[in-house]
Amino acid sequence: MKILSIETSCDETGIAVLGADSNISTEITILGNALASQIDLHAKYGGVFPALAKRAHAEKLVPLLSEALNQTNLLKLKTTLLSQSEKDQMKESLEFLAPKENMLQIQFVDFFQKYEKPEIDYIAVTVGPGLEPALWVGVNAARALSIIWNIPIIPINHMEGHIVTAAIEALEKKCEFLDLAAEPQTQRFEDLKIRIQPERAFKFTDLKFPAISLLISGGHTELVLVTSFGQYQKIGQTRDDAVGEAFDKVARMIGLPYPGGPGISRLARNYREKILEKKIENIFSLPRPMIHSGDYDFSFSGIKTAALYAMRDHGEMSEVDKEMLSAEFEDAVTEVLLKKTLKAIEEYQAQSVIVGGGVASNTFIREEFTQTLQEKFGESVTLYFPEPWLATDNAIMIGLAAISQIKTGQIKTSTPKNLVADGNLSL
Ligand code: KG4
Ligand code: ZN
Repeated sequence: MKILSIETSCDETGIAVLGADSNISTEITILGNALASQIDLHAKYGGVFPALAKRAHAEKLVPLLSEALNQTNLLKLKTTLLSQSEKDQMKESLEFLAPKENMLQIQFVDFFQKYEKPEIDYIAVTVGPGLEPALWVGVNAARALSIIWNIPIIPINHMEGHIVTAAIEALEKKCEFLDLAAEPQTQRFEDLKIRIQPERAFKFTDLKFPAISLLISGGHTELVLVTSFGQYQKIGQTRDDAVGEAFDKVARMIGLPYPGGPGISRLARNYREKILEKKIENIFSLPRPMIHSGDYDFSFSGIKTAALYAMRDHGEMSEVDKEMLSAEFEDAVTEVLLKKTLKAIEEYQAQSVIVGGGVASNTFIREEFTQTLQEKFGESVTLYFPEPWLATDNAIMIGLAAISQIKTGQIKTSTPKNLVADGNLSL
């Protein structure tokens, strides 16, 4: 079984091809993966600019699709040209793209004239949550592929993608293969800024339920009770900014580029190394919002404002000042995330904790969670994080969510006509 997956919910355009069978415990292989990041495009705005994001997705989608399918060796050139009537019929079927997805329409007409239908069983696509104009590009591409190639669509919730991606383990034999493989091949696509990961294989880990999932990204901060794959109940969420958004905003205040998470993390680490060596005392103190609220909701806009006031009161910020503020910010955020997660583990008697989303690649959060859960629960609770290169948005996670639905018999397919993007889609 082969799954083509599409991700366009925010600022990464991703296309992947995964191979799997329907048995939950068996291997899943990444056959193709092409990802184009829009980070440079949005950097000057300090965040994602929706209209620009949509246009960049529309420009890159078909080139990425060709790249990912080519990596699988599934894309074969047509040996005979389409007759005029076949061409007309194909163009008519793609006419629905005309009003809003002109760029996709032009590129797809060319693409479908050139290539045979590949051996793909399902098309998995992110339908939400995310930026609606951006989501529609992926949704419309999935509709076009489904109509022309007659392949069923599996609509995927982006957040389910983040959850299942933390619940996989790499298979060793393919990791050896990875070591031999070259670095991700970026050179060929310098202009498109496509990052490609070499072939790798995974399997779903033998995760024990109930699990608590903490989803922390640029758009979301949620605690979710997972009773089995596919069974999700949101128990808390942010009332204002997402954690990643707070990282990005504080980073911007101290002059770091977008996305700000990795920069804050680097400065905070510098400071922590300095306290070990020279014991420099942190002069900043930020609030831990809603830490004692007794529920599972979060609020991060207050920390960001407090950081702004702290900087204003302090005046000129030296490099060490920036490092101290970054460390205090990371401490404050981590404490709140940890406190609420611990409460949820106890209340729901969780046996596993799954952390997902772009902020899950933060080293300090990983270390604090690992250490505290080990101290409090020992072997009785297992903690799962995604591999760092799979924590931020990509199409592999969308393919994995589809495979988990197939493997657990919960697959819900959609016809091209019924498929819609929903920016506010909930788990
Ligand atoms: O999941 P993701 O790629 O996109 C969304 O769905 O939002 O998450 C992106 C977010 C950004 O806010 C970025 O600053 C944050 O993840 N991020 C980090 C780190 N790496 C990325 N935050 C903290 N520490 C990091 N190392
Ligand atoms: Zn995401």
